[in-house]
Amino acid sequence: MRIAMIGTGYVGLVSGACFSEFGTEVVCVDRDAGKIDRLRAGEVPIYEPGLDNLIASNVQAGRLSFTTSLSEGVKGADAVFIAVGTPTRRGDGHADLTYVYQAAREISAAAGSGTVIVTKSTVPVGTGRKVGEIAREVAPQKALHVASNPEFLREGSAINDFMRPDRVVIGTDSDHAREVMHALYRPLYLIETPVIFTELETAELTKYAANAFLATKITFINEIADLCESVGANVHDVARGIGLDGRIGRKFLHAGPGYGGSCFPKDTLALVRTAEEAAAPLRIVETVVAVNDARKARMAEKVIAHCGGSLDGRTVAVLGLTFKPNTDDMREAPSLSLVPALQRAGATVRAFDPEGMDEARKSLSDVVYCTNAYEAMEGADALVILTEWNEFRNLDLDRAKQLLRAPVVADLRNIYDPAEMAAAGFHYDSIGRPS
Ligand code: UGA
Repeated sequence: MRIAMIGTGYVGLVSGACFSEFGTEVVCVDRDAGKIDRLRAGEVPIYEPGLDNLIASNVQAGRLSFTTSLSEGVKGADAVFIAVGTPTRRGDGHADLTYVYQAAREISAAAGSGTVIVTKSTVPVGTGRKVGEIAREVAPQKALHVASNPEFLREGSAINDFMRPDRVVIGTDSDHAREVMHALYRPLYLIETPVIFTELETAELTKYAANAFLATKITFINEIADLCESVGANVHDVARGIGLDGRIGRKFLHAGPGYGGSCFPKDTLALVRTAEEAAAPLRIVETVVAVNDARKARMAEKVIAHCGGSLDGRTVAVLGLTFKPNTDDMREAPSLSLVPALQRAGATVRAFDPEGMDEARKSLSDVVYCTNAYEAMEGADALVILTEWNEFRNLDLDRAKQLLRAPVVADLRNIYDPAEMAAAGFHYDSIGRPS
């Protein structure tokens, strides 16, 4: 089998490398020549654990290559995956499909008859059909097929998610598309992965429904956490108490500062718009979007209140800037609203993140960027834990107390135990747990 992957962003690069690991010949295509040059030189432009080794070994085995030429990449391919960006369109919250349709046009012009065009980017319901129409319009003489194969990868564990997924969802418009996709995922049949074949629209909607459901689950527990704070209950125990019910499940019930990242905020918003236009509004998801936005904006107030009501002239140490650990991704991260809000309240912010500092510098200004967690704490009047990187889970608390001007800690990821922190002499606050 031979495939081309159009777009070497997160999804394209991970999927391309993983398919090549399955034994498929993969050509990754990107119009950004600098990026392709770097990839050819063995440099991986994103931080994802294990990806650099996976790329290096498959390049060496001759199964994985990179090019800027779409027509060259598409030549002889059984399937061509579209994994280009679908940013939120300015103004209306819809996914911007300009790059997807442009790729569909170029692929249709360059591909041989029988090629399956696969959307891997998260695309609104109806996009696959439109890709089929474009293919027929651009190349009426060719038999081009369409599939929708949404990705359920999590940043930070993307390779494992691809290699050992809970399920694979594939929408197709023909038996041939189904056969090609079946062959590509053959290695997963050996580990008995459920592979669900559907219509194009069903596959597209499944992706949005999954992300919206997970975002809802997080938002639900976040609101329960607020209620816990008001009534003196403990959200950790509530989450465990409900999560052990198999119908609910324990995962994605960690209360925190609100979900972020490149997927949940964008996909929930796009789904809300799709539903509005289909005259089948999704009130629950609309509320989730609003509640999460408000939560992220409100986190600074929580920190300020914990610091005694004012941050004027004070210094705050912030540990963790990325939207979650094991990534350098800052998109929609809670830090993007929290840090400026602390600064507006008069605070100087000293910050450290293990992988996100370069990205953070692009969007957060006037921050004192430090080289490690302890340097960030030097002379600070309070410590805020904003992303639960492993290295923050086991801080030397004695050293922290010596470095901080006041032993004030706001742990927005609940990685420390309130009783232990109190015993260690900290004025400690977390999410939805009595201090
Ligand atoms: C998410 C989904 O989990 C993937 O299945 C999906 O493929 C991906 O979006 C996508 O659409 O491409 P990702 O954005 O990498 O993956 O990150 P998650 O691990 O899902 O975390 C998202 C946000 O929710 C983070 O801000 C995280 O801190 C927050 N979260 C997660 C919580 O606040 N509580 C939880 O219990 C879980």
